[in-house]
Amino acid sequence: MMKAAITGVHGYVPDYVLTNAELEQMVDTNDEWITSRTGIKERRILKGEGMGSSHMGAKAVAGLLEKTGTKPEEVDLLICATTTPDYVFPCTANLICDMVGIRNVGSFDIQAACSGFVYALTIGTQFIETGKYRRVIVVGADKMSAITDYTDRTTCVLFGDGAGAVLLEPNEDGYGVLDSLIKSDGSGQNHLIQKGGGSRYPPSHETVDNGWHYVYQDGPSVFKFAVKNMADVSAEIMERNGLKGEDVAWLVPHQANKRIIDATANRMGVSFDKVMLNIYKYGNTTAATIPLCLFDYESKLNKGDNLVLAAFGGGFTWGSVYVKWAY
Ligand code: ACO
Repeated sequence: MMKAAITGVHGYVPDYVLTNAELEQMVDTNDEWITSRTGIKERRILKGEGMGSSHMGAKAVAGLLEKTGTKPEEVDLLICATTTPDYVFPCTANLICDMVGIRNVGSFDIQAACSGFVYALTIGTQFIETGKYRRVIVVGADKMSAITDYTDRTTCVLFGDGAGAVLLEPNEDGYGVLDSLIKSDGSGQNHLIQKGGGSRYPPSHETVDNGWHYVYQDGPSVFKFAVKNMADVSAEIMERNGLKGEDVAWLVPHQANKRIIDATANRMGVSFDKVMLNIYKYGNTTAATIPLCLFDYESKLNKGDNLVLAAFGGGFTWGSVYVKWAY
């Protein structure tokens, strides 16, 4: 049966490094608190007028096209997962295509907060499995610094900017995305939300004064849901594919909090040396965490490795993808 194999991965992070030491100068926090509560040491910030998530997404896609020897005209579809689109419309996927020279194909954004990449990968996979398309690019790109309140110590230490992209191509030898689960529970909406700027509360002096254009997060509530659901969904995908902890070569978790990642690995019976981590250097880059992990660890991956991707985010949304690495 036709599967969608990941045949390349590329990532991009901006140069500017925002360290815990610099945050100590901005808000009442300290390196010890941030490190022990989250696992984050530093994060990247996209500086410069007029640059949005598309800038980073386009860098990741351009690098992906180059390293896989794919011409822009050979791409059939591009999907971008983002919570920080450049504009309300047009979508960021359209902008990325324009920047890298991909024309006349479908491109659209997916909004599933920190689960965005898992959702977009699941969707992209369908177009390959049905035989409709042969080359699909899935991007995760977020400029979280655009919606972060750098006077709020409970959120500003958490987020960073970055992008990652994968190429999906057909595979009939049993490699690729073998299963996926996506879930949501909209009753969690008020625990993790950017309240202003949409159709319910369009931008106004009042929404700006209220700080509604920033991320609001009730950290401890989200933490409880994230620990339970990320672990549950990972256990569920392992169980229905007959995978034991020792069969998993790599857990590729969304990077929101090192403690949530550790709890998920424990529940799956996966040892910590098999868990991909970049939270210490990038923080939570929302839709970019998982493809950036794959990019960072690409040289350590072997053909046939079983990977379990897992994410949890605003919505609430969560999900898991089982991948047999194809190269
Ligand atoms: N520095 C120092 N102290 C701080 C800081 C800080 N940066 N932030 C909060 N504190 C204080 C709090 O004010 C509180 O003080 P108090 O006890 O005097 O009231 C104390 O530290 C403990 O705060 P908590 O919020 O209870 O800390 P917690 O251990 O829950 O950690 C955190 C907070 C890291 C946000 C955690 O709750 C978390 O990781 N939540 C889940 C995040 C997540 O998974 N999000 C989903 C993905 S994101 C997305 O979809 C966009």
